[in-house]
Amino acid sequence: MSPPHKPKQKRGLWSSRFGFIMASAGSAVGLGNIWKFPYVTGMHGGGAFVLFYLFCIFVVGIPLMLGEMVIGRHTHRNPVGAFNSLRGGPWTAVGWLGVISGFVILSYYSVVAGWAVNYLWLALQGTFSSQHASKVPELFAGLLSSDLGQLFWQSVFMASVIGIVLGGVSKGLERANKVMMPILFLILVFLAGYGVLSPGGPTALRFLFYPEWSKLDAQSMLEALGHALFSLSLGMGAMLTYGSYADEKTNLPTAAFTVSFMDTCVALLAGIAIFPIVFTYGMQPAGGPGLVFKTLPIVFSRMPAGSMFAVLFFLLLVFAALTSAISLLEVVVSYYCDEQKWSRNKATLVIGFLIFLLGVPSALSNNLLKDFHVIGDRNFLDSIDFLASNYLLPLGGLLITVFTGWVITTRVAKSEIEKGAVRFHFYPVWHFLIKYVSPVLVAIVFLHTIGLF
Ligand code: PFF
Repeated sequence: MSPPHKPKQKRGLWSSRFGFIMASAGSAVGLGNIWKFPYVTGMHGGGAFVLFYLFCIFVVGIPLMLGEMVIGRHTHRNPVGAFNSLRGGPWTAVGWLGVISGFVILSYYSVVAGWAVNYLWLALQGTFSSQHASKVPELFAGLLSSDLGQLFWQSVFMASVIGIVLGGVSKGLERANKVMMPILFLILVFLAGYGVLSPGGPTALRFLFYPEWSKLDAQSMLEALGHALFSLSLGMGAMLTYGSYADEKTNLPTAAFTVSFMDTCVALLAGIAIFPIVFTYGMQPAGGPGLVFKTLPIVFSRMPAGSMFAVLFFLLLVFAALTSAISLLEVVVSYYCDEQKWSRNKATLVIGFLIFLLGVPSALSNNLLKDFHVIGDRNFLDSIDFLASNYLLPLGGLLITVFTGWVITTRVAKSEIEKGAVRFHFYPVWHFLIKYVSPVLVAIVFLHTIGLF
């Protein structure tokens, strides 16, 4: 095994180990947890889906996160450079797959994040106060019916992402993350408590945690696996890239475990906050991508100081989306800076603009392009979300687990993890999972979906 080439440009490092964990958690916790997890859970019937999702987090998610961080820190490179320097040849394509996924995911992610920015704007105007409670359900339909509105909010969001990545990720973002993440968590705990105590609480908990295995088919399993990867920002080199900015003393197993744990808690809390509202107000659990936007505002319009909570909640949702979007853009930008020697400014502006353009059809997919169905009866936005979560990330995840378990030698992985005098007692468990269990599970689910057996 040849030693990794050192990058020619000087690359950044996180200013502290805590900052690295918070930034990685910032990447993981995002719209995937608060917007997507509740609605895909609703569409796939609840409990059994949730339990299989948790199983995927344990046997694929945590091992793969550690794998990505190990490759990133060992090479101190972007995904393409990392695979190229460790093995090269066809393996470089795995890095490319990551860069492409970052590009594709951010294009529609910014549209949904734009919806959240719009809701923040509405909350600031007091739209979710008691006088306007009856209008809440119509608001989402109103938002989706405006192509220009969606394009506007998408561009506001993309401009912010570009602005932050231009300014460098470390200081402002690390600092903001440390404050905002705990507040987001507290608000969700509060909303979840409010939900559990509401009339629909018991039904919601049963829906979320009581498994009816008959509802779990191969399609739901793929969705759960794909969503576990999406939610933990895995399978496309985002954690690899963040790991590449970690110093040698960072305890990678602790980081991987903490980030996965925080991400899972936030998703479950979002579910516990949202489903009681669904059942209390007789809404459909399988209501689709509008679920969070149609449920929580009802509660905000009824609770004391609801307007204030609405502002705080949507502010934090936008923030959670921003910290994830930044990591998506960073994967692509780091490739152009490291390998193509572009300046950070040029890479961020050019790539950010191209991603915005690719997002335009997603922003138009509920109106102008609503009859343009790409995969099944899904519109453009839902189709590329489906493509990214169910094909690109599982394929990327499969290849990265195989690479970590079979291609880089045990010696490299073990010595990388144990750098900085870290003792990792679960090394044999991790090695077994990443070598045999994770790739086999991902391969079975993936090959079944693409119809190979
Ligand atoms: N994990 C993010 C979320 O749950 O919203 C989405 C995401 C970010 C996916 C970064 C992939 C990624 F590389």
